[in-house]
Amino acid sequence: MPETEASRVAGYAPPRHVAIIMDGNGRWAAARGLPRGEGHRRGVEALRRTVRAAGDLGIKYLTIFSFSAENWSRPASEIGELMGLLRRFIRNDLAELHRSNVRVRIIGERQGLEPDIARLLIEAEDLTKGNDGLILIVAFNYGARQEITRAARRISERVLAGALAVDDITMETVVDCLDAPDVPDPDLIIRTSGEQRLSNFLLWQAAYSELVFVPSYWPDFDRAALEAAIDEYRQRERRFGGLIAKTGS
Ligand code: IPE
Ligand code: IPE
Ligand code: MG
Repeated sequence: MPETEASRVAGYAPPRHVAIIMDGNGRWAAARGLPRGEGHRRGVEALRRTVRAAGDLGIKYLTIFSFSAENWSRPASEIGELMGLLRRFIRNDLAELHRSNVRVRIIGERQGLEPDIARLLIEAEDLTKGNDGLILIVAFNYGARQEITRAARRISERVLAGALAVDDITMETVVDCLDAPDVPDPDLIIRTSGEQRLSNFLLWQAAYSELVFVPSYWPDFDRAALEAAIDEYRQRERRFGGLIAKTGS
């Protein structure tokens, strides 16, 4: 039987796409009397654990919110630490990700990034583009409103070039102009740290995602926490606006 959206969601397969808002690094550190940077460093360890666990659990797409378009409003010293961690993560972990058959993709605005960071992002994508294991989508310098605005610009350019009629603009046209058009919408979005908001993450793609809010801070996140969030997701009834409840997978 061909897989339909309903059969996929009703089955016992893991969620196909899990997205995570990795929040609470600063508060994790503050609770221990440590500088915020230490929380970010421990957050990278939680990320490593989570990528491994996601692969083991059979998740196909894992999107992580690593730096938002609004995070530039933080103090320069913290931004410097976060950029340093990104550089180190790509330099130290890329080979291992590649060996594990992980394909890295990046969403977010590339314009205006420091040139060495822009190069590292391209290197991560290029090196791993032939891998067919877990697809790790890193949302970096990402904001959903900015992404949708970029899509609006791309659509306008197609219309102005005479390649697209206004009446032919559909939801598919919009999706086609988002940063990762071929990636399915997240089934499950997890946010750590107890905050219950999306903070400009995947606003278009989250239309029918199940949201799970976890009280613990990101540096404490691990395989058990991921499994617990997936268990909660499985209890949910996904109806997609219809009347037939589709039991979470
Ligand atoms: C998440 O932790 C990491 C980033 C946003 C880059 P925070 O730095 O937001 O930690 P809190 O929310 O201040 O505790
Ligand atoms: C969202 O967390 C961004 C990332 C996790 C990268 P924030 O900590 O920036 O979100 P707000 O400011 O609490 O909404
Ligand atoms: Mg935060």
